[in-house]
Amino acid sequence: MADNSARGTESFAVAEKKEVKKKLRWAIVGCGGISGAHMEAIKQIPEIEVVAGCDILPERNKEFTEKWGVKDTYEKWDDLLANVKPDVVDVCTPNGVHAPAAIAASNAGCHVITEKPMSMSPAESQAMIDAAKANGKLLCTGFQYRYHPSCEMFVRAREAGDIGDIMFVKCQALRRRGIPNWGVFGQKHLQGGGPMIDIGVHVLEAAHYCMGEPTPIAASGNCWTYIGDKPSEVVSCWPNWDYKTFTVEDLAIGQIRFNTGALLQIEASFSAHIEHDVWNFQIMGTKGGFNWETATLFTDHAGTMVNCKAGFLPSVGFNTLFVEKLKNFAYGCLYGTPLRAPGESGMAVQKMLDGIYRSADIGHEVAIN
Ligand SMILES: NC(=O)c1ccc[n+]([C@@H]2O[C@H](COP(=O)([O-])OP(=O)(O)OC[C@H]3O[C@@H](n4cnc5c(N)ncnc54)[C@H](O)[C@@H]3O)[C@@H](O)[C@H]2O)c1
Repeated sequence: MADNSARGTESFAVAEKKEVKKKLRWAIVGCGGISGAHMEAIKQIPEIEVVAGCDILPERNKEFTEKWGVKDTYEKWDDLLANVKPDVVDVCTPNGVHAPAAIAASNAGCHVITEKPMSMSPAESQAMIDAAKANGKLLCTGFQYRYHPSCEMFVRAREAGDIGDIMFVKCQALRRRGIPNWGVFGQKHLQGGGPMIDIGVHVLEAAHYCMGEPTPIAASGNCWTYIGDKPSEVVSCWPNWDYKTFTVEDLAIGQIRFNTGALLQIEASFSAHIEHDVWNFQIMGTKGGFNWETATLFTDHAGTMVNCKAGFLPSVGFNTLFVEKLKNFAYGCLYGTPLRAPGESGMAVQKMLDGIYRSADIGHEVAIN
């Protein structure tokens, strides 16, 4: 089991202001969609000063400068690393570029945070961990849902013994019709997969964190493609995706077995024929259960089955979670406080994603080593 002691360091419950003694010189690699969420969050973290950006597309660099006022931009990260020598590199590229960018940054002596998923495969993730270790630098996976107050509520309950042994976790990241119509999200060789690695990863990382990060030992799964590789013919929020280059799944279902005996089921889709989108996980333990979305604990008390809701939880939006994840990493770089999503957490999730895809390819359960 992982040590979740990092939980308390930047928890919403105990957040404390720190005096800003030193600013981190921070560079963003990949100035597309999600870099904006990073820049917006960084406005609220005085310890971070964004000194440079890098995108292979010159127009993205231009937009980045115009929107965020960061004048120093590069088309190659090697030039950025050599000229700027930042403290931190924040990798916001498509998944297939996370590993080479992170490794180059570690080798240049930078702390690194990558967007989710950590990479496209366990082999890439291992190379990232090795590079960070060899250079004595931090490596953080940009998972954000583990910072959600609902996760914090569950971990506190689990640590207090209210849940007992966790037997089963059901995870769902299901869109009725939400195939990204930007970027390269439909291209397996650039992303590593479709909705399982792109959105399933969010619910999976949060659920795994809540479980205490047990070791995955086997996976079983299947994938189906039936909509994304055809032109869009119905009204939807993101129509006209690039169906001609679509090589990923529309729906993936996976099951993970852990060394504790617990099972986790995950359902991920960009286009599931269901009533409405679902983004949730539910946990069943021997003493209690939990619904993440409603932040409700289920247990027995004094002869009654009770549903316990928090009297208060901080309300959070997308931006708040980005502030929390970047702050946790920045504080780790500056003050040595524990990372809540170190490379090893990213690797465990990567192994589960990889196991599900491998099992889907060969048609039976596979071992996770
Ligand atoms: N945490 C979240 O909630 C969340 C949400 C969306 C996306 N993401 C992740 O962020 C990453 C990027 O997604 P996005 O939506 O911003 O995609 P995007 O396509 O909008 O942006 C990616 C940018 O990276 C650039 N790029 C590609 N190769 C590069 C290279 N070699 N060097 C420098 N720049 C390069 C592209 O030109 C593009 O501008 C993905 O890994 C995705 O999974 C995370």
